[in-house]
Amino acid sequence: MERTFLMIKPDAVQRNLIGEVVSRLERKGLKLVAAKLFQANEELAKEHYAEHVEKPFYNKLVSFITSGPVFAMVVEGKNVVEVTRTIVGETNPTKAAPGTIRGDYGIDLGRNIIHGSDSNESAAREISLWFDESELNDYILNDEKWVY
Ligand code: TYD
Ligand code: MG
Repeated sequence: MERTFLMIKPDAVQRNLIGEVVSRLERKGLKLVAAKLFQANEELAKEHYAEHVEKPFYNKLVSFITSGPVFAMVVEGKNVVEVTRTIVGETNPTKAAPGTIRGDYGIDLGRNIIHGSDSNESAAREISLWFDESELNDYILNDEKWVY
């Protein structure tokens, strides 16, 4: 089973949307492996978004992500990267389809509610960046046999 890293961003934490977002992941049939409300420091935020270091929005992005706690998660499921990118919706909430998290809750590109890893390679890198191995829970989710 594949894993991905998801992070509810400071805007959505401030807007009390953690429950709404987690609920959508649970209803989809995905398995929560780890979760924490966590204040990232600048070093972690910069490393997380390292691929964007040359982009004009990089500094603003790093200061936004460190502006308050985020809700970091590891989620497991079949094709979970693709499934969660679809649930999350397009990067720009203005373009994101209704029914997606960004499409339903966001308006501004710089405040787009949630991050989701874009490949299995990014997922592995981001999971190890945000979580210790000891924080990942290995357990049987009984519902799962009715999803697959
Ligand atoms: P990106 O990795 O392209 O999007 P995604 O989160 O969908 O994988 O960009 C990372 C974040 O950077 C994005 O969620 C919001 C922010 N961002 C901007 O602020 N301005 C921009 O022009 C872009 C492309 C992204
Ligand atoms: Mg990305």
